[in-house]
Amino acid sequence: MIKKMKTIFVKNYEEMSEKGYEIIKDVIETKEQPVISMTTGGSPRGLFTLLVEGVNNGLDISNTVMMNLDEYIGPKNAVYTVNTFMYENFYNKINTQPKEIFLINGEADNKEEEINRYKEVLNAYPRDVQVLGLGTNGHIGANEPGTPFDSTIFLAEHDDSTIESTMREYNIERDEAPTEMITLGFTEILEAEKVILLVSGKRKSEAVKNLLEGEVSTDCPATALRDKDNVIVIIDEEAASLLDEETIK
Ligand code: F6R
Repeated sequence: MIKKMKTIFVKNYEEMSEKGYEIIKDVIETKEQPVISMTTGGSPRGLFTLLVEGVNNGLDISNTVMMNLDEYIGPKNAVYTVNTFMYENFYNKINTQPKEIFLINGEADNKEEEINRYKEVLNAYPRDVQVLGLGTNGHIGANEPGTPFDSTIFLAEHDDSTIESTMREYNIERDEAPTEMITLGFTEILEAEKVILLVSGKRKSEAVKNLLEGEVSTDCPATALRDKDNVIVIIDEEAASLLDEETIK
């Protein structure tokens, strides 16, 4: 089995967040104009807490460009949007702002125009880091099972399990939950110099098993990352609980 991505096994969610933070902090401190693309949801919450602490204690982001992986289709200020998440968990909590902030507009009438606008952002600012979370069904961003590995930024429909995860994460009913998202495809995701996949919790253990030990297949979108040497997967004990011993060694 070809596995070029790096795996880091940690004890728990806190350690996963710390490892992720260390990598990003190093990039921010060493690059002239760091470009960091984040994700949202439960996986990066702890990482955001550490980033907020770091920035408020002197980590200099005045030259850092920040952007995001995706955005739900819906009103900008809805509880579940990436926009809301980023302001509530980061931009509203830090005492200095990054050089630039880019977000996808999920309420744009013309989705194709919005996709093209964001493509230009991606081209203008090559990313040093792309942070990712893993769906329980193996999705990455909104690249759901069946998405070709050469996908490029597109308007994606969520699988049922993803809609359920959004309901759970944001405590909303099904009729309030978004069903579509503009997401980077694997092509843009893998263009980042470093891709960090954060995985924690029992809920993710099946997807982790497929990611590391299953067939490379669009049935488990995350397997698109397996043979890529710019990918770092940080996995906690619960998420790794179904893995064979040899995989963890
Ligand atoms: C959210 C996103 C999703 C999540 C994934 C894991 O912006 O792109 O792919 O990363 O669904 O979600 P959590 O971290 O909430 O378990």
